[in-house]
Amino acid sequence: MSAAPNLVTNSRNQPFLAGEMAPVTDELDVASCRTTGEVPGDLLGKFIQNGPNPRFEPLGRYHMFDGDGMLHAIEFAEGRVSYRNRWIRTPMLAAEMRAGRALYPGLADLMNFPDASLVGDAGPIKNPANTNIIRHAGKYLALYETGLPVEVTADLETLGIRDFDGKLPCGITAHPRIDPVTQEMFFFAYSPFPPYLRYFVADAQGNLVHAIEIPIPAPSMIHDFVITEEHAVILDSPLKFNMDAITEGGSMIKYAPEGGTRIGVLPRHGRADEMTWYEIENGHVQHFWNAWCENGVVELSGTFNTSPEYGMDTGGDPSESSASAKAGVATRFKVDLARGAAKAEQFDDMEGDFCRFNEGHNGRRSRYHYMGGFRGERGVIGQFDTVVKYDDRSGARESWYAGKQHHIGEALFAPDPRGSAEDDGWLLFTDHDHAENTTDVCVVDARNVGAGPIARVHMPRKIPFGFHVNWFRADG
Ligand SMILES: [Fe+2]
Repeated sequence: MSAAPNLVTNSRNQPFLAGEMAPVTDELDVASCRTTGEVPGDLLGKFIQNGPNPRFEPLGRYHMFDGDGMLHAIEFAEGRVSYRNRWIRTPMLAAEMRAGRALYPGLADLMNFPDASLVGDAGPIKNPANTNIIRHAGKYLALYETGLPVEVTADLETLGIRDFDGKLPCGITAHPRIDPVTQEMFFFAYSPFPPYLRYFVADAQGNLVHAIEIPIPAPSMIHDFVITEEHAVILDSPLKFNMDAITEGGSMIKYAPEGGTRIGVLPRHGRADEMTWYEIENGHVQHFWNAWCENGVVELSGTFNTSPEYGMDTGGDPSESSASAKAGVATRFKVDLARGAAKAEQFDDMEGDFCRFNEGHNGRRSRYHYMGGFRGERGVIGQFDTVVKYDDRSGARESWYAGKQHHIGEALFAPDPRGSAEDDGWLLFTDHDHAENTTDVCVVDARNVGAGPIARVHMPRKIPFGFHVNWFRADG
């Protein structure tokens, strides 16, 4: 692709546009990437990352949540690894591409709406679709939690916004849960404005079949949730929206422990009045691992942050208004449905996040849980240097440290199609070398995480910092 006008220069020296976060300006198709080590022959499918990559020089202050979604796909075919990246051409980005410049402000200047004559039907607020990429009912959906899903093809071409035949009234979580047996998709939506919480179910064919509004006392920031075979489980966080900040300044998200923290357990297809809430100690969970229900006890786990410093400041230094200044620690929650009691049990002290596991166990007991953590200098969520594996049965922690100059992305679990054990498979993640400004996609044997990568795929140029990654089996 030839150079386009108004590419991001970061002339205002904005921290979310510097270093690894600096966007790339091209869309590449590389048929065969250089590899080192031995790429497993049974690893067949696509690793796709979604993340922010602003196409045009931002109008004002830029937050990493603002950037246009860009997908990076690394396809493992027999004996060959290819790379392709594409911007997600949302209607908003399409309007900007027609104009040849940015039209939409970032979250910090949200009310500074674009000229309606320039954006047309795309509307006044950008949905950059930059947070996650999933596949359900054969459709690839790029997700951003305050925007409707955007469908793309397996080859990363944008098809358009999807609202489940007009039944979905709002943006949804970037973390739906798909039952590996029924293939139903469960998801929720939060909003700073009433209704604050909604919950949905799509059937295996992708039809929206269940939608309810769940009353909660205040608008909470809820990023992820879990399912069991019978329940949807939602944590009502003490992080609350303060939309007055848009006009009055200050942070749009505030820690409000006086409102308490509750775990809500709802039958999967339940009515709003079937939601039961259980108080736990105050804290926020950005990402969960898994959940299951055995003998009347719902058990779930995630990284729990009992002193969250989550800011979205409308003024001041954007480098101090990141997603979170601090990651949580691995914590197990048990909800005794009969006794009506819930408790949190921290089981490690390493700060981490980007919780993943073998999703073939979604809603059923899982033994192995993976995350990004800090063995070196502690940083913010996302800036991890270590891949961690927890064995829930033995309590053991195994890890691999990428090195001082390195940042690893989210580590997903790709199952070995010939395997039968829960950890028969590979962890795939990006490894960014700050000194060289290069990115590798690493393959680690999930049965031996401590040994580090068995193979590396060297990207033709860096992949910028991203949010979430997923694995799409070639036969899936
Ligand atoms: Fe997330």
